[in-house]
Amino acid sequence: MRNFDDCAPIPQQTSYKAIPPALVTLMGAGPGDPELLTVKALRALQSAELLLHDHLVSDAILELAPAQAERIYVGKESSRHTMPQEEIGALMVRLARQGRRVLRIKGGDGYIFGRGGEEAQVLAAAGIPFTVIPGITAAQGAAAACGIPLTHRDHARTLVLTTGHLQENRQVDLDWQALARPQQTVVIYMGLGTLPIICEQLIAHGLPASTPAALIERATLPEQRCITGTLRDLPAVARSAELKPPTLIVIGEVVNLHAALATAQVFVPSSTDP
Ligand SMILES: C[S@@+](CC[C@H](N)C(=O)[O-])C[C@H]1O[C@@H](n2cnc3c(N)ncnc32)[C@H](O)[C@@H]1O
Repeated sequence: MRNFDDCAPIPQQTSYKAIPPALVTLMGAGPGDPELLTVKALRALQSAELLLHDHLVSDAILELAPAQAERIYVGKESSRHTMPQEEIGALMVRLARQGRRVLRIKGGDGYIFGRGGEEAQVLAAAGIPFTVIPGITAAQGAAAACGIPLTHRDHARTLVLTTGHLQENRQVDLDWQALARPQQTVVIYMGLGTLPIICEQLIAHGLPASTPAALIERATLPEQRCITGTLRDLPAVARSAELKPPTLIVIGEVVNLHAALATAQVFVPSSTDP
């Protein structure tokens, strides 16, 4: 059996090497707090020449790039699509073919409800060398910041990340039976607009209406709000609190831990907090 004493000592790192010359870097910027960037993401930002960024990437993060780096905003908010996805892909390919080094920044992790996979496919098909830097996804950031351990073993054996986004047919096309399983935590991205359907369907498919749930707005940022309720009253709670995107929905018994853990936990402010 391996224990920690068997591990080779970690070599002393005196300086970081330069980022290798991938033409496009697909970078996750985490849930909002700039101090939740990975070290790799910070290095990529500090050496960036050209940034393509989404609305979920805060100014505090963009400011970590050199002042002379070019910044291109490519959207997108559900109500304001700045640039269609196909054009973003085409733009990255065009810039890379011009020899520009592109840092494509997305909120959270680009491969989790971030369409980073589609962008990677476009780059791969065009033969553009690219690299991927993961980010802390909103579910992880919100869980830590709100005292909701998503897979606390007394309460959840499964964790499901899904999206409540309306499909083109105006339906929320989810496997409700699977989402309504007991001993499970369900985290829903982009679900604020469809919250009444989500709660109604989960109850109709067997989850008790008393199942605890949390709505977490702007997790990890100074304005963060975490509001709890049950499946029965969550839509009304969201309405009266006038919550806005980005908001994450967490459903399951683990939400009951929030009151005790969020109060007991010491929050380390970010050095960029006002
Ligand atoms: C297009 S998805 C992007 C998710 C992102 N790629 C990630 O890994 O977190 C946008 C949704 O993520 C959630 N989200 C992202 N950042 C958030 C934050 N700081 N607080 C709460 N929810 C957040 C919201 O549900 C929002 O509608």
